[in-house]
Amino acid sequence: MTILVTGGAGFIGSNFILDWLEERDEPVINLDRLTYAGNLENLAELRGDPRYAFVRGDIGDRPLVENLLQKHAPRAVINFAAESHVDRSIHGPGDFIQTNIVGAFNLLECVRAHHSALNDAAKSAFRFLHVSTDEVYGSLDVDAPAFSETHRYAPNSPYSASKAASDHLARAYHRTYGLPVLTTNCSNNYGPFQFPEKLIPLMIVNALAGKSLPIYGDGMQIRDWLYVSDHCAAIRRVLDAGRPGETYNIGGWNEKPNLDIVRAIAGLLDEWRPRADGRSYGEQIAYVADRPGHDRRYAIDAGKIERELSWRPAETFATGLRKTVRWYLDHPEWLANVQSGAYRDWLEKNYAER
Ligand code: NAD
Ligand code: TYD
Repeated sequence: MTILVTGGAGFIGSNFILDWLEERDEPVINLDRLTYAGNLENLAELRGDPRYAFVRGDIGDRPLVENLLQKHAPRAVINFAAESHVDRSIHGPGDFIQTNIVGAFNLLECVRAHHSALNDAAKSAFRFLHVSTDEVYGSLDVDAPAFSETHRYAPNSPYSASKAASDHLARAYHRTYGLPVLTTNCSNNYGPFQFPEKLIPLMIVNALAGKSLPIYGDGMQIRDWLYVSDHCAAIRRVLDAGRPGETYNIGGWNEKPNLDIVRAIAGLLDEWRPRADGRSYGEQIAYVADRPGHDRRYAIDAGKIERELSWRPAETFATGLRKTVRWYLDHPEWLANVQSGAYRDWLEKNYAER
């Protein structure tokens, strides 16, 4: 048996593949287009591992995907591939529509054709797991209950709107064609291999470089944070035991305002890599113009996956953040390699005018 993972060279996908092959012997095919966010270095330890194969390509390339499905006959497809950064979606939504909607549609079409040709046993064992986000539900008031799986969709950014569209397509392919679809909606992830355009790695990198720590607006926007290996474990659990047609919210029971996150990072760096002048990294905090349409709060009610599939996060925010900051301190070469010219261009575009 084999699984096909898309977007496996990105942050969560590469953690997923590494954890999967540490736990199981089932081979993985990784289909990734290698956008700026895809990095094969994340998977360097798998070089020469016969259980792992990489294919460079687009989820929207139907002949390629059809060929892969035919050649490897995976018993499951796990779709991580996406454009994933809200700020980039504000500057340029086109790629988000292309990959997250059109690409997901093409992938679903290939998987539907593949599934319909399987024999009955293989058909009922097959799974298409679509990895999505809590951002599809939009913004919550401070005192509103957390998102359940039945919360109405109200995406506010081009990123979340494009993910919402793909969630709806995945749902429709289950209802209309009987494709055994599972959908997961997870909160903000953090951990090793996250590209330093997202809040936590960006703050670590900027702090160490002596740059300002840019807080959008008042910094009191709330997110739920989940350590990436907990997300990966939840996806494995849903793949193994989730009911086709169902969605599962995944979260860390850990809501925090952005400012608390940045202060916690500064505190750890003060302890492990004190500034030469003896002052705190917290002094580098700088308030900058807010993100347009910035969602105020996300919160996940992860009760369903806990009740039905007995999944709960293993890490607390304190333990997960320590592991994360430690990982970035211990991997300066990884960071240096991803901070290419294209990365510098992005920083210039996003922060110069704030
Ligand atoms: P990422 O941006 O780090 O990685 C995305 C990967 O997809 C990259 O390797 C990229 O090369 C690849 N890719 C992009 N377009 C492609 C295409 N057309 N064909 C094939 N590959 C393509 O993203 P991530 O943070 O690892 O997120 C993975 C998935 O999880 C996304 O679907 C995202 O919406 C979802 N998600 C992310 C978070 C989070 O906090 N990062 C939270 C919940 C859900
Ligand atoms: P981000 O990591 O981009 O994830 P998302 O927008 O998908 O939640 O941002 C997390 C939060 O941090 C979000 O409220 C925006 C905020 N933020 C900043 O305040 N400054 C920054 O430089 C970045 C990148 C994000």
